[in-house]
Amino acid sequence: MKIKNNIILEANGLFHIYESKAEDGNVVALRGINVAIVEGEAVAVVGPSGSGKSTLLKSLGGLMKPSAGNVSLAGKRMTRLTGKELVELRQKTISFIFQDSNLLPHMNALDNVAQPLRHQGITPRVARAKAQKLLDRLGVGDRSRGLPEQLSGGEQQRVAIARALITDPKLILADEPTGALDPITSREVLKLFSDLNKDFDVAFLLVTHNREVASFCDRSLELREGRFIAQHGNDVDISDLSESRELIIDDTGTVTLPPDVLLKVGGPGRFEIPVNEKDKIHLERVENEKIEININKKFILSPICPACFHKYSESATQLCPECGSSRPMVESNN
Ligand SMILES: Nc1ncnc2c1ncn2[C@@H]1O[C@H](COP(=O)(O)OP(=O)(O)OP(=O)(O)O)[C@@H](O)[C@H]1O
Ligand SMILES: [Mg+2]
Repeated sequence: MKIKNNIILEANGLFHIYESKAEDGNVVALRGINVAIVEGEAVAVVGPSGSGKSTLLKSLGGLMKPSAGNVSLAGKRMTRLTGKELVELRQKTISFIFQDSNLLPHMNALDNVAQPLRHQGITPRVARAKAQKLLDRLGVGDRSRGLPEQLSGGEQQRVAIARALITDPKLILADEPTGALDPITSREVLKLFSDLNKDFDVAFLLVTHNREVASFCDRSLELREGRFIAQHGNDVDISDLSESRELIIDDTGTVTLPPDVLLKVGGPGRFEIPVNEKDKIHLERVENEKIEININKKFILSPICPACFHKYSESATQLCPECGSSRPMVESNN
């Protein structure tokens, strides 16, 4: 477990209520979130639509003020900073990547990427040179003079990622960063994130539905109805989970046990429900043979094309030479 003396972002007891005069009333989007992210750590937040992921990310990044609770960035409580101090600290420390790229429509790609450095008073020439380098690295260098509306969704997203990287942030908060990308570009962006994480110790908090993206992270936190209900991975800290040991069973009947509860019941395995009762489940272990769940499964390129069953053998190509389908990632067996 990483030592928690270099926490970059920490939240305690976050609640958020969206107030509404409409008939359906107020929405409680966050219900007591605690989380700490240390320097260089990559954390995924996963959860169904409406579970509060974007609200959490915006609250953590100081883009909105939660109804209650504290967020500290680089050891400083955000609510205690003046507007100007908060903006400065944020500019130095964090960058955001949103699902829709949020580029300024009247500026070309190069100036969109250079803009955060211009805000810091860096000359246009120096800022543009760095911007061009990043665009080249992300494979959109030749589109640098294009306006956002002249770029494809995937190109816009790569420009937005370049813009997020130009300030050399310590932490990147990203909401479905690869949501608008095809699998190949998405993998390239992930590789870039992974390099930044390994080589420059950049921390990531990524909201994602994508298993490949989550598997790049050190741990993943599962959000349901505004609470963290489970955590998966290497570096699990139970104190990040909500205090109440509550389970939510979704419409499909799926339950996720918090890791400490799972440990208490003796770990994964097969369970029987001997009697059916309303509002209660009684589980009895039927076998002692435990099922190994490997949370650290590695993903590899699929050896066989799922569409036409072409065998890739040693090739590392990402497109099927026979039918042109993109090659998926699958869990490795070793
Ligand atoms: N501005 C708002 N006003 C009122 N309610 C809101 C507002 N923004 C979000 N909500 C509600 O708060 C809850 C959490 O929303 P949030 O956008 O954080 O979910 P999410 O997990 O990001 O979902 P998705 O995966 O669909 O992006 C939802 O019930 C949503 O309807
Ligand atoms: Mg969202």
